Amino acid sequence: MLDDSPLDPALHDRRGFECGVPALDEHIQRFAEQHRRRGISSIFVLTDSAQPERILGYYTLSAAEVDAERLAEVERKKLPRSPVPCFRMGRLACRADQQGHGLGKLLVGCAVDRCLKARQQVAAYALIVDAKDDASAAFYLHFGFKPFLDAKRTLYLPFGR
Ligand SMILES: CC(C)(COP(=O)(O)OP(=O)(O)OC[C@H]1O[C@@H](n2cnc3c(N)ncnc32)[C@H](O)[C@@H]1OP(=O)(O)O)[C@@H](O)C(=O)NCCC(=O)NCCS
Repeated sequence: MLDDSPLDPALHDRRGFECGVPALDEHIQRFAEQHRRRGISSIFVLTDSAQPERILGYYTLSAAEVDAERLAEVERKKLPRSPVPCFRMGRLACRADQQGHGLGKLLVGCAVDRCLKARQQVAAYALIVDAKDDASAAFYLHFGFKPFLDAKRTLYLPFGR
């Protein structure tokens, strides 16, 4: 069974995680726990209960805000001029030997699910992601994310109406 849970440095094998993007490997190995402690970002890992220490993928979440001027006209019309509260998925990665088998999609679903739960307590309009290149942006577009008007690799998924 697959499990989406907060990173546990005592259990999860961060050193063994490799996704093919050194900065994303380095993040989980060196910085993620520090960022969690300092309130910069929370990190969640996907594991299989048959091998719970092996990290299949991870994502990070933080609070964020966006100026509505950066969003599509259809969004902007519904929003106040003040900054709009959001969540940000700053990083997303699957281990290299598991890519292309639906884990990325599952991780996006887990992140959205977590945000939907969190926004029952703290309001947020959308989930923002930062794609590292055009191929990553295409991955998010595939799931219905929309690009910011002024930054095509920053995308957002509105939650509500
Ligand atoms: C990007 C990444 C998370 C995608 O995960 P994955 O497990 O390989 O992707 P999945 O198998 O879950 O693909 C899910 C769907 O997205 C589609 N997809 C995958 N990559 C895509 C891309 N670049 N453009 C458009 N669609 C894409 C798949 O075809 C699939 O479509 P379907 O659900 O209709 O069948 C993964 O490749 C990865 O970790 N790469 C290295 C790190 C990285 O680049 N992270 C992104 C940082 S912004």
